Amino acid sequence: MDVELSGHEPVLVSRVTEYLAPAAGQIVLDGTVGLGGHAAAIAPRLAPGGLYVGLDVDGAMLDGARRRLAGMSDPVIHLEQWNYAEFPALLERLGIGQVDAMLLDLGVNSAQLAKAERGFSFDVDGPLDMRFDQRQKTTAADLVNSLSERELSDLFYDFGQETLSRKIAKRICELRRESRLTTTRLLALAAEGVYGGMEKHAVRVHAATRIFQALRIAVNCELDNLRAFLERALPFLRPGGRLVVISFHSLEDGIVKHFLLERKKAGEVEILTKSPVGPDEEERRGNRRSRSAKLRAARRVA
Ligand SMILES: C[S@@+](CC[C@H](N)C(=O)[O-])C[C@H]1O[C@@H](n2cnc3c(N)ncnc32)[C@H](O)[C@@H]1O
Repeated sequence: MDVELSGHEPVLVSRVTEYLAPAAGQIVLDGTVGLGGHAAAIAPRLAPGGLYVGLDVDGAMLDGARRRLAGMSDPVIHLEQWNYAEFPALLERLGIGQVDAMLLDLGVNSAQLAKAERGFSFDVDGPLDMRFDQRQKTTAADLVNSLSERELSDLFYDFGQETLSRKIAKRICELRRESRLTTTRLLALAAEGVYGGMEKHAVRVHAATRIFQALRIAVNCELDNLRAFLERALPFLRPGGRLVVISFHSLEDGIVKHFLLERKKAGEVEILTKSPVGPDEEERRGNRRSRSAKLRAARRVA
């Protein structure tokens, strides 16, 4: 699948650069390289002699990053289809003990959202897939059609903070008794049916927004991956090294905030962002995806 490189605008680029503070000869680990937007801004600052290691579980995104970064020979760019939660094994294979900076830009890429066949969006009809990593077996359709009503309701509540989770889960179970729910449109209709006309007045987001978020988080084990990454990160960051995480909803941001406060208490990090950093007015207007972005940054002190 060839992806459009111009379709994805990296968020908070100048703030990411400021907090990562990349310098010549350094090693940066980018756990979510996507289409290489942040990489294109940061990597040149590592020359001469640095190394930019970019990971993504989505092969199509990596192809995009490869195309975007193709002309760059210094620093060395190493791109690999790899789960960021499992980064220690890759660093070991590359013979790298510690890096100078780590970046995670969580969530879904605009290019992934735009491809109907990836099933991430309720705006376009496609198969109910939502896998970042297409080598993985379980899709959103598998969860929607196999979980019990109670499990679906809990999933929508826990990962989507969906207040009508029970009603939507009940509606899905009624619908799937007639036939398997296999498309994004069918799932969106289930949520729209429950909200009826009320959603437009009550909340300004589409009725299916929260259940799509919840399913995507579940399909890709997103919160588990984030926790695992953070738990493993500090020993692989050199003292003085920087950690930057951009999250897009309160569940992710809560995990990052909690982790940083714990490690600050333990004397392991200095938190560089007193409160989470968001986009300025110009970026908010120009890049819709940036509106919910929250950046937190820290420096390893010991
Ligand atoms: C918001 S995008 C990153 C965009 C990138 N910073 C850029 O400037 O182009 C998030 C990326 O993380 C990837 N991703 C999600 N979970 C992952 C995981 N566990 N390991 C590695 N990559 C992951 C997605 O496939 C997606 O491409």
